[in-house]
Amino acid sequence: MDKVLCSLLLLGTTVMMAHACPKYCVCQNLSESLGTLCPSKGLLFVPLDIDRRTVELRLGGNFIIKITQQDFANMSGLVDLTLSRNTISSIQPFSFIDLETLRSLHLDSNRLTEIGGDDLRGLVNLQHLIVNNNQLSQISKEAFDDLMLTWRTWISLITICEECPGIPYARWSTCTSSAWTTTL
Ligand SMILES: *[C@@H]1O[C@H](CO)[C@@H](O)[C@H](O)[C@H]1NC(C)=O
Ligand SMILES: *[C@@H]1O[C@H](CO)[C@@H](O)[C@H](O)[C@H]1NC(C)=O
Repeated sequence: MDKVLCSLLLLGTTVMMAHACPKYCVCQNLSESLGTLCPSKGLLFVPLDIDRRTVELRLGGNFIIKITQQDFANMSGLVDLTLSRNTISSIQPFSFIDLETLRSLHLDSNRLTEIGGDDLRGLVNLQHLIVNNNQLSQISKEAFDDLMLTWRTWISLITICEECPGIPYARWSTCTSSAWTTTL
């Protein structure tokens, strides 16, 4: 009996260690893909101890003010990243460089004023880029160089165009609803 209890305790410890989770967050390992959920927890920065194997990461509704290169380093299996409703005003160049499998990046409702040429570097599989409700006044011509231009990306780019009239769009000057229809 003692032996069984001991084994159970040991097993419990092992399971807990396998699912180490940042403080205030909930981590779910469903169908072998790890989700790290930290919505509206008063976080001031991206927790450093997020499991690098996480597939879905939700950090919406916090008070994160900037994105740095270490925040998402080595998260090469991340597919969905939510940073909506924070107070992000700057993204360090190459912060997303390891996110080669990322499909959705939610950056809406933050305080971004610009998207620099290297800010979205590495996002080669991005399909949804949601940046509405920021204070964007400048988007670098090179910002979308790494993005795969699927029709979904186009929709998001159109959203940017429509919400920021006057942005110098050298490459996306034909980025209108009619251009999108043509693309489809
Ligand atoms: C998730 O669970 C599977 C088995 O159910 C395990 O092989 C895998 O290592 C776990 N992943 C993480 C990140 O804990
Ligand atoms: C990322 O991986 C490299 C190489 O394995 C390692 O040196 C570095 O500390 C890792 N960074 C993070 C934030 O996990």
